[in-house]
Amino acid sequence: MHDYGVFTAGSKAEVLEQSREFWNPGKTDFWAESGVDLVIDRRESYFIWDMSGLRLIDVHLNGGTYNLGHRNPELVEAITTGMRSFDIGNHHFPSSARAALAEALIRSAPPNLTKVVYGSGGGEAIDIALKTARHATKRRKIVSIVKAYHGHTGLAVATGDDRFSRLFLSDRPEEFTQVPFNDLAAMEQALAGGDVAAVIMETIPATYGFPLPDPGYLEAVKALCERHGTLYIADEVQTGLMRTGEMWGITKHGIEPDILVTGKGLSGGMYPIAAVLVSERCAGWLTEDGFAHMSTFGGAEVGCIAAMKTLEICGRPETRSMVHYLAELLREGLAQIREDNPDWFVGVRQDGLVIGLEFDHPQGAMIVSRHLYEHGVWAIFSTLDPRVLQFKPGLLLTPDLAEELLDRVAVAVASARTDSGARGAA
Ligand SMILES: Cc1ncc(COP(=O)(O)O)c(C=O)c1O
Repeated sequence: MHDYGVFTAGSKAEVLEQSREFWNPGKTDFWAESGVDLVIDRRESYFIWDMSGLRLIDVHLNGGTYNLGHRNPELVEAITTGMRSFDIGNHHFPSSARAALAEALIRSAPPNLTKVVYGSGGGEAIDIALKTARHATKRRKIVSIVKAYHGHTGLAVATGDDRFSRLFLSDRPEEFTQVPFNDLAAMEQALAGGDVAAVIMETIPATYGFPLPDPGYLEAVKALCERHGTLYIADEVQTGLMRTGEMWGITKHGIEPDILVTGKGLSGGMYPIAAVLVSERCAGWLTEDGFAHMSTFGGAEVGCIAAMKTLEICGRPETRSMVHYLAELLREGLAQIREDNPDWFVGVRQDGLVIGLEFDHPQGAMIVSRHLYEHGVWAIFSTLDPRVLQFKPGLLLTPDLAEELLDRVAVAVASARTDSGARGAA
């Protein structure tokens, strides 16, 4: 029993039963059956605690939402101070917090991006990006990659996997086309008709297990876009905010996207906010009809305060150095674990602290995820390729905790290998 003031939480079994009855039976049962019966209780820094008391190092971080740690003290302080003056504000009017964050975002981004539109979450921001591209080009078609994941709102869901769009009759095959990742010929063919408003690309597709773009692939896609009058939307929801060792992953490719989308970690997991950065070419609707996209919570002022603090922390030279240091430390540690399990742990996909671990079994990452859970680490498998484990350590992880993490991963990967019945498990 825990008294939280406005409610009292019962035992873990009671919470699970209440969740099954009043919240989401499908999700609740899925995790119970997967052997990960996690109900997050305490959370602090890069740790979460299950209601049973089990402590876990969090390397899921909800897709990077907690890049700076759970309840980062600097963020808590900024928001607590901010809440003395602000609430979410009124989205119809200009506001000091919204304007200040917009300026900070624009100053952090490639120079061609000049205006910011706010959403309350990533999906809404993607919808805004797609609507913006359609307005700017007066074209309807959108091209994304097979196994893309851009969220579950009205337009965003149509860019992604059938599993999520068909269930709600939200697939729109006549307007939304998908081409395989890293296949330039397919992209060329999709754009050749000159009727595509935008190509939308995660810089590294997260839910697909972080397959890395082939050298020159994204650059060539951008060139194709320019040739065919198509806009390039960079979805930086998982790759932005210093995770690749640069503020925005797309700049490592020398690409100036027409539209850039950020969310998740933007407000440090303390208050939801997402943002779309657009070029002058795409910003026309903001003058034509500034009320054309409406969102009561988009650009909520408390979220703006959290986001400004987040941007400031992510932009510090010491944060960048830490990301580069941790990326190398983990690269070496993971290579050693691979060497010890060569027939099972078959690949590491890595760009900075965007890391995918590949296992030689159709559900390999689901098995490893369960074993990690038993060994005090929470990392999630890739929904659209469960061979690959998403491994997203915090940007501010201490070297000691990184070493502890590697020790736990080494033990869990080996026991998962035995569990999977991998060939010749020694
Ligand atoms: C790359 C990417 N884009 C967009 C989204 C959608 O964000 P949200 O869940 O906040 O709607 C996600 C969510 O996981 C994502 O990973």
